[in-house]
Amino acid sequence: MKKFGVRKTALLLVLFLIVCLEAGTLQAQSGARQAAIPLPPMGWSSWNSFSNTVDAQVVIAQAKAMVSTGMAKAGYQYINIDEGWWLGERDKDGNIVVDPKAWPALADGEKPGDMANIVRFIHAQGLKAGIYTDAGADGCSTYGPDIGPSIPHTGSEGHYEQDFLQFAKWGFDYVKVDWCGGFGENLDPAVQYAEIARAIARAEAITGHRLYYSICNWGKDSPWSWAPNVGGVEADIWRTSGDIVAPIVANSKNSGRKASFKGMLSNFDQGIHPEAQHTGFYNDPDMMVLGMAGLSDAEDRVHMGLWAISGAPLLVGADLTKLSDATLATLTNAAVLAIDQDALGLQAVKVAEAAPGLQVWSKPLSTAGARAVILLNRGTAAASIAVRFSDLGLKDSAPARVKNLWASKADQNDSAPFNSSYANFVPAGDAVMLLIQGVEAGRATYTGVKAGPGQPLNFTHVASRARVARIQIAYTNPDKKPRFAELRVNGQIATRIAFPSTGSGNATGMVTIQSLLELTGPNNTLSFSTPGNSSPQIKSISLE
Ligand code: GLA
Repeated sequence: MKKFGVRKTALLLVLFLIVCLEAGTLQAQSGARQAAIPLPPMGWSSWNSFSNTVDAQVVIAQAKAMVSTGMAKAGYQYINIDEGWWLGERDKDGNIVVDPKAWPALADGEKPGDMANIVRFIHAQGLKAGIYTDAGADGCSTYGPDIGPSIPHTGSEGHYEQDFLQFAKWGFDYVKVDWCGGFGENLDPAVQYAEIARAIARAEAITGHRLYYSICNWGKDSPWSWAPNVGGVEADIWRTSGDIVAPIVANSKNSGRKASFKGMLSNFDQGIHPEAQHTGFYNDPDMMVLGMAGLSDAEDRVHMGLWAISGAPLLVGADLTKLSDATLATLTNAAVLAIDQDALGLQAVKVAEAAPGLQVWSKPLSTAGARAVILLNRGTAAASIAVRFSDLGLKDSAPARVKNLWASKADQNDSAPFNSSYANFVPAGDAVMLLIQGVEAGRATYTGVKAGPGQPLNFTHVASRARVARIQIAYTNPDKKPRFAELRVNGQIATRIAFPSTGSGNATGMVTIQSLLELTGPNNTLSFSTPGNSSPQIKSISLE
């Protein structure tokens, strides 16, 4: 090794140690630890590739493939049965009746036409099972059936308590509730979905079985403003837009359809509402079209990266029995999945766009100083895109390590730490996904003031370096279950935040949220109030 090579190596080692020492699990100044929150669901849904043709045979093959492809091992767990499983029939007591041929007995002692059969099969693979209904009286199979004739009464309106109890009794773990009927009847989604959340809570109380709540009203009436904690739910997801693509079903009249990169990007954009995504509540930009006709392998990687940096639910719509090696590698990239499943549960924010279409997106991660970053080129020509560390809320003066997540192993680590910024060349319609490990910029801590008992807790004169501020909230909650508080920033629409248990002692926990602090200087007011009976004890907030 040449002389300067040894010195350079030693210098790099020192810089590396500085970066490592300053990193660590995110801790507030009070010493509080980030509370464990529900993470975005990962799995498969029948709709995109099977439309109304879903039946037990399809579900069995997909569940087996989820295990045999290694997807289950990578973290995918839900097998979600979408529309088409039920043809709208009920018995004289209003109980749902399904076609016994489509849903036969699968083991000795089982009865045909009992949805518990398929749930048992899914559970036996070590997976979880999801089911689907509509908030209105008639579902999407009435209003706009994809394959097959229009069928009436495929919704749960008038049967909320009965149907959700039935889903829990069958053993389902997840329920998606669509909005075709609700929309057709001009219902108010905030009201209906709250009612359904209460029916789910009742079913859980009776059976002891949890049903994860997936709201699907395509972003109508701004669900990000009411869906977090709607009807008291502890965790949920809500769709933020329409479908990326109509189903592409092999050997059907719809087999020629194609997903589009443009459509995927549009759903990504419509899914960005970082102020609503926190503490177990997630924007849902739709099931992924990765591995379906229309997108190239490179476009699939961009799609995966954008869903992961959004912290979105990762629900695969492709036929799992037919995935190519390239698609499978993209779907199971561990570093990318870890970004989606990061413990803070936050969403990416666009932090720079130096020229139209040359964008930098950043998602704060639970390791102090860590950011997932996407350099996205939406233009028609290749371009260099730079990310400035100060735009990520990192110390400008400290070096940062940069890992290129989609690069081949040998090229993954850019050898030296970078100072102030990092740039890479991005082909047109492509993206570079990075894991950047720098050092957090300083934070200021604020304590709140109450005007009197029962009054909101106000934090006034709050300043933020970034327009979308990352706020750590230190609190205690001695209950076993989460408590909730409503945060209003500068008098704008509130968001409901979950505060998980901090244990029976006096330990302080921490949750992290993002809020739009539009006023420059120390001029923002954050006001916490309590929607229910018991509030978390909020001790302080801190932000960059
Ligand atoms: C709506 C939803 C889709 C799917 C279909 C079923 O379009 O957005 O995800 O559930 O209904 O008809």
